[in-house]
Amino acid sequence: MRFGWRREVAGWHLLTGVALLLLCATISATGKKAREPKWWSIAKIADPSNLISNHIKSNSLTDHYLDPAIHRILRKKQRRLVRENPGVLVAIAKGARHAVHECKHQFRNRRWNCSTSSSNRSKRLFGKIVSRACRETAFLYALTSAAVTHTVTRACTEGSIDSCNCDYRTEGPSGLDWEWGGCSDNIDFGDNFSRLFVDAGEKGRDPRFPMNLHNNEVGRLHVKSEMRKECKCHGMSGSCTVKTCWWRLPYFRRVGDALKDRFDGASRVSVKNAGNARASNNRQRNRRRKNTRRRRRKSFALLKPYNPDHKPPSKKDLVYLEDSPDFCVRDRKLGIKGTHGRECNKTSIGVDGCDLMCCGREYHTRVIEVHERCSCTFQWCCVVKCKTCKYKKTTHICS
Ligand SMILES: *[C@@H]1O[C@H](CO)[C@@H](O)[C@H](O)[C@H]1NC(C)=O
Ligand SMILES: *[C@@H]1O[C@H](CO)[C@@H](O)[C@H](O)[C@H]1NC(C)=O
Ligand SMILES: *[C@@H]1O[C@H](CO)[C@@H](O)[C@H](O)[C@H]1NC(C)=O
Ligand SMILES: *[C@@H]1O[C@H](CO)[C@@H](O)[C@H](O)[C@H]1NC(C)=O
Repeated sequence: MRFGWRREVAGWHLLTGVALLLLCATISATGKKAREPKWWSIAKIADPSNLISNHIKSNSLTDHYLDPAIHRILRKKQRRLVRENPGVLVAIAKGARHAVHECKHQFRNRRWNCSTSSSNRSKRLFGKIVSRACRETAFLYALTSAAVTHTVTRACTEGSIDSCNCDYRTEGPSGLDWEWGGCSDNIDFGDNFSRLFVDAGEKGRDPRFPMNLHNNEVGRLHVKSEMRKECKCHGMSGSCTVKTCWWRLPYFRRVGDALKDRFDGASRVSVKNAGNARASNNRQRNRRRKNTRRRRRKSFALLKPYNPDHKPPSKKDLVYLEDSPDFCVRDRKLGIKGTHGRECNKTSIGVDGCDLMCCGREYHTRVIEVHERCSCTFQWCCVVKCKTCKYKKTTHICS
């Protein structure tokens, strides 16, 4: 009798245990708790030049020179990478800033305009929208990953990272009137570094991880594929009988433009069998720890088009799991401010037009006086003198 009761209690414990496990699995599977990567907020913490001087002052390769604020937002692996590559932190901070600037530019005329939190107290940079696995989030991962690839590669060329420099390898056959030579931007280093640093921590059962990894890779791929050949003439008095050529990074604006195009054509996917994939990933990791390439292909293979009639996403397509909110009205849970008070373009039929921007609500018209510098003249030597011109401008504002 007593024995039986005990068995029942044990059984009950087992049941609650299983229920709890199931509950946890559901929470992580829906991705509700996804947060933006902490390192993103390096964009608002650090004044890059400050980081340099602190580093030089302490002249040590230990963790201690890290500003405590930065120590807090980096993972252990990321701190190790920063330690092993002196100078790279400044490049990462610059990258994060470029990403913010580029995002605001690309989305300036849209309902979601990439507003960021500037307050030092807020832990997040782009805000709660990142908790949703939507297109905007996909774009942010690709853009930040691309930006770090870009600034780290640039920093190698400039000689400001101790562990890398230009790429002097010759790249395949030369042409008839030109040959490879000189200092190519070391995209290999930037690409590898971004994969180690940016992808750190993106592992686990949550379907957000394969999505994030894919989009991070999309960002890097766009930097790589926009690399261009730059040449310089040699020969008698610039006759250009011989040219030397090297690989040069694209302007980051080009990468931003390309990723914005991918945003517009992004693929909605679902993640198949994330649990099994983790298990097989682990097995694979144990077998060949260094073979990251294979793991990447694995996570790529997990992404199936949400609509079976659509073709699978390519390596350069952004992928997302959930539809975007409409961004029309304030939503605290997702950190959305709504389009009340936003300026719209009365004659445009695009996303910046008043119909779409104001979500069908009214808008009002305001005439404002704009002051601008004009009729500037250069005066010897060396000042530029301008007049101030005033003119009236009609603006339309969403109610
Ligand atoms: C945020 O912190 C930086 C230094 O890290 C400081 O210069 C700035 O004034 C702070 N901003 C606010 C709004 O407190
Ligand atoms: C980048 O990684 C690839 C593959 O792991 C490796 O072959 C290559 O040497 C690395 N390049 C640099 C510059 O670190
Ligand atoms: C972005 O949108 C927010 C709210 O929707 C608005 O307050 C802000 O002024 C906008 N920024 C720009 C640059 O238009
Ligand atoms: C408004 O939209 C029209 C049509 O797309 C465009 O020609 C015009 O430059 C836009 N105005 C502003 C201020 O952006």
